Amino acid sequence: MKVLNKEVLTENQGVRVVKLIILAPDIARKAKAGQFVVLMVKEEGERIPLTIVNTDIVKGTITIIAQEAGFTTKLLARAAEGESLYSIVGPLGHPTEIKKYGKVILVGGGVGIAEIYPVAKAMKQAGNFVTAIIGSRSKELLILERELKEACDELIVMTDDGSYGRKGFVTEALKELLEKSKQDLVYAVGPIPMMKAVSMVTKPFGVHTLVSLNALMVDGTGMCGCCRVSVGGKVKFSCVDGPEFEASEVDWQELQKRNSVYNEKEKHICQLKKL
Ligand SMILES: Cc1cc2nc3c(=O)[nH]c(=O)nc-3n(C[C@H](O)[C@H](O)[C@H](O)COP(=O)(O)OP(=O)(O)OC[C@H]3O[C@@H](n4cnc5c(N)ncnc54)[C@H](O)[C@@H]3O)c2cc1C
Ligand code: FES
Repeated sequence: MKVLNKEVLTENQGVRVVKLIILAPDIARKAKAGQFVVLMVKEEGERIPLTIVNTDIVKGTITIIAQEAGFTTKLLARAAEGESLYSIVGPLGHPTEIKKYGKVILVGGGVGIAEIYPVAKAMKQAGNFVTAIIGSRSKELLILERELKEACDELIVMTDDGSYGRKGFVTEALKELLEKSKQDLVYAVGPIPMMKAVSMVTKPFGVHTLVSLNALMVDGTGMCGCCRVSVGGKVKFSCVDGPEFEASEVDWQELQKRNSVYNEKEKHICQLKKL
């Protein structure tokens, strides 16, 4: 659980994203694309879920990429090389179903770009034609462009302000691709409004669309109910039933509401702890 390496990927416009390489040989050996860990930075802290972005079985390491959102991600970003995290559990969640679909589009927004990277590599390895569409508010906030260029057949970069790649949202490029040719799978990770928009774009095309949900989690074992989401009118727990679900079936409004419950409280904690 020792942090072997820490790198700041971006620090701009109030957004700070860090990459940590952590010694966790058992997790590295078992992890598959789409899975995540739940970690605690300190004993008195909370548990947070983070995607396993990469593994190195030989070195026994996993890579995680975290955007500072609140108390725990800020603590994590301050962990020094050589320091040990208090606890880390994983791999959790169902792995992504990797097979030959044909043409696969992966859509990543913000730190969601980190989460599509392992899926891109696995989908490519399974013989798919993989297109990644990645988007950020501006050039400075874009992560893993080089890595995704290597992993995919095609990479489209979008920025909200047009400072790099094409100006506009990832959904614009997605719609154009769907209009141009038949696609077999769309896989999206990003902020809830982005995943909801992807779902609305793909629906008329009838293309199988998966989203990896970022529901709030506590125990990660299906016991506490914190990550409850409504999918296809049924109650699901993101940690054990997901984190991936068919996009058109997700109750986005409920998810957004549940995920913002602690916003004000978290701001308060960060101010108290001077983070
Ligand atoms: C399966 C899974 C994989 C994830 N992978 C990554 C990843 O690879 N990299 C990454 O940066 N983040 C990832 N997240 C989101 C990450 O868990 C949250 O950003 C983190 O829990 C925030 O903790 P915090 O204490 O720093 O922030 P908090 O203080 O708890 O929250 C700060 C803000 O973030 C929102 N928030 C809190 N938790 C979540 C959450 N789980 N999802 C969305 N918004 C949240 C709050 O509503 C609030 O607005 C993942 C979430 C899940 C469920
Ligand atoms: S995090 Fe507790 S049930 Fe999923």
